[in-house]
Amino acid sequence: SSNKSAVDIAHVYRGTFVHSTDHTVVEILEDRLLGVDTEGKVYSICMEWSAYPCEGHRLVHFVVCSEFFMPGMVDTHIHASQYSYAGTALDLPLLQWLNTYTFPVEACYKDLAFARNVYTHVVKRTLRNGTTTACYFATIHTDASLLLGQIANDFGQRALVGKVCMDTNNFVPHYRETPDESHDETNRFISEMLKKKYPLVMPVVTPRFALSCSAALLGHLGEIAKNNHLHIQSHISETKEEVKLVKELFPDYDSYTDVYHKHNLLTDKTVMAHGCHLTDEELKLFREKGASVAHCPNSNISLCSGMLDARRVLNHKVKLGLGTDVAGGYSPSMLDAVRRTLDTSKALTIQDPQYQTLTFEEVFRLATLGGSQALSLDEHTGNFQVGKDFDALRVNTAIAGGPIDLINHGEGPKVGTRDDRNIAEVYVAGKRVVPFVETT
Ligand code: GUN
Ligand code: FE
Repeated sequence: SSNKSAVDIAHVYRGTFVHSTDHTVVEILEDRLLGVDTEGKVYSICMEWSAYPCEGHRLVHFVVCSEFFMPGMVDTHIHASQYSYAGTALDLPLLQWLNTYTFPVEACYKDLAFARNVYTHVVKRTLRNGTTTACYFATIHTDASLLLGQIANDFGQRALVGKVCMDTNNFVPHYRETPDESHDETNRFISEMLKKKYPLVMPVVTPRFALSCSAALLGHLGEIAKNNHLHIQSHISETKEEVKLVKELFPDYDSYTDVYHKHNLLTDKTVMAHGCHLTDEELKLFREKGASVAHCPNSNISLCSGMLDARRVLNHKVKLGLGTDVAGGYSPSMLDAVRRTLDTSKALTIQDPQYQTLTFEEVFRLATLGGSQALSLDEHTGNFQVGKDFDALRVNTAIAGGPIDLINHGEGPKVGTRDDRNIAEVYVAGKRVVPFVETT
């Protein structure tokens, strides 16, 4: 049934493929042949060599029985700029944590050499840990944010990159923009980034959160996103204190969600981090607008912010992905986000034994397909569906890693949410990006 000529197929991978689909939480395809075309897209996934032209393809890999392929993971919320202090400074609640640690560190990204160093490390570390797609916050600095985009592109990571916007930070006055600066620099950031024509890296409009943006700035950013059909990311309802202050600061709005909504910032390309304290009414608005939630369980617990009831979000049919939220979350690994998501769901079950705990399989889906849907990138990534880019991890379960096997189907493959030692290779859009090829 194929009319593709042999030369269009670049590589054929043989092995077991594990992924989520719209209909199946986790599907295990044993001993298949997956063809990737010269554009890096999945061309075919089948059981017979006869489906492939006999010439022109290259058999790349016979996966042994302790190995399998899974889709690359999608980190829907990570602060690249906070990687420099990940794992430290988790002793204060959110708003004090921002003023005491975060804003002073982010101010350092004025220095491009500092930025280059940290951004190189965070891109390599997340790729190494299987994050094939990352949705990044940078800082308020346009040039350093552009550098993050360049570094992600150079290492072959799929990324959304946001220059952070904030004009009402009163605690660290040297880390703040005027409304005009924020607006003009966002425009410059977007146009410079689009000019580069990176195949996998895109700009995302990034108001930090309602507490650090004036209504005027929120309005401008909503306009910019609308006029350029861009992604939007921010934070919402992470802590109760924040929700209370937003209510005081924006008394004329129905809710925190309504503040973003009224400024055109709640669209089907919006991803909002946390959402621990969203009401049912707010989740309905998310659903209506097609906006998504980034569940950041490590951060939620580490900063004592709250526990997102992921089951409730799913019941509302709101798109949901997982995020590491470095450095509120101390781990840059999506495998950690998977474990913490299960932990939070179990903590909710301890509180209420009737609670419908998330299953391993559901969380696997959130880390892969769910994340791609949350970022509206599911046309390109999230599973091995024909036509999508080949974003994949070759996982080796024979190496002892962490304690959790995500799926253990009797004699079948184990999907271990172990650690980076179990990730033998990482592919993005058909290109092998891990192990790194050292350039001189
Ligand atoms: N809310 C506003 N800014 C931030 C941030 O940098 N991290 C977290 N976790 N929440 C925020
Ligand atoms: Fe965050």
